Amino acid sequence: MSTAPVDRSELQAKVQAMYRDVALNPQGEFHFEMGRALAERLGYRAADLDRIPAEAIDSFAGVGYYFHLLDEMQGARVLDLGSGSGMDTFIASLITGPEGTVVGLDMTDAQRAKAEALRQRHGVRNITYVKGLIDAPPFEDGSFDVVISNGVLNLMVDKPAAFREVARLLRSGGQLAIADIVTAVDLPESISCNTNLWAACIGGAWQVERYKQAIEAAGLRIVAEQVNDQYRFLSDNAQGATKKFGVKSISLRADKV
Ligand SMILES: C[S@@+](CC[C@H](N)C(=O)[O-])C[C@H]1O[C@@H](n2cnc3c(N)ncnc32)[C@H](O)[C@@H]1O
Repeated sequence: MSTAPVDRSELQAKVQAMYRDVALNPQGEFHFEMGRALAERLGYRAADLDRIPAEAIDSFAGVGYYFHLLDEMQGARVLDLGSGSGMDTFIASLITGPEGTVVGLDMTDAQRAKAEALRQRHGVRNITYVKGLIDAPPFEDGSFDVVISNGVLNLMVDKPAAFREVARLLRSGGQLAIADIVTAVDLPESISCNTNLWAACIGGAWQVERYKQAIEAAGLRIVAEQVNDQYRFLSDNAQGATKKFGVKSISLRADKV
């Protein structure tokens, strides 16, 4: 299969348009669920959600919970790839405590603007939002103890390159924890060449073993994984693909060797 089944600039424009809408109009109609009920079903603790901005939770478009897979994060330097409206950055900030730092990287201006406004309003001091692309992140080698990402890497055209960047950014022994969409079998071109389905987090999903091999080939060792059966797509189209191709959400942790 080609590594670039879709046109990157067309995909980027569609992803930015969709996630601008997620930031500005979270009550709108999407292929996927968002918000607090989803977060609680995936495993986020209500007590943690009560301590972070409700508007960040409204625009939460993640696909799983993974913080329980990580070791002690107190004081850690954390990077969230595709941080969206910031829900996971606020949760990470609670866990690291004020001596830790959290950086949210996202290419969609409306998502970063929303997260930053919420950060300021809630007086959270240890989070910074940075504009940039996941396959060209503007950070030095070994800058982070922990990299997290929720529902994002399926959107990357060159997943091996994205995982190599993660390995570059982590210090030795650092941890990656992600939730993402994968499939049981390779998707047919009718789906994997459709940028609308990519933007909806389906078209770009990789077969699970191929996805895990890309992580390990980058120099990361998978040490924990789980299937998030609680995650479901909403539209009929998306549910059809889910059944036919085993589209599912997983969470995993991988450590830099
Ligand atoms: C499905 S949303 C998930 C947002 C957030 N992680 C959450 O759980 O709500 C995907 C996010 O990744 C961002 N994104 C997608 N591809 C990106 C890329 N190549 N570089 C930077 N950000 C990207 C989008 O702008 C969007 O905010």
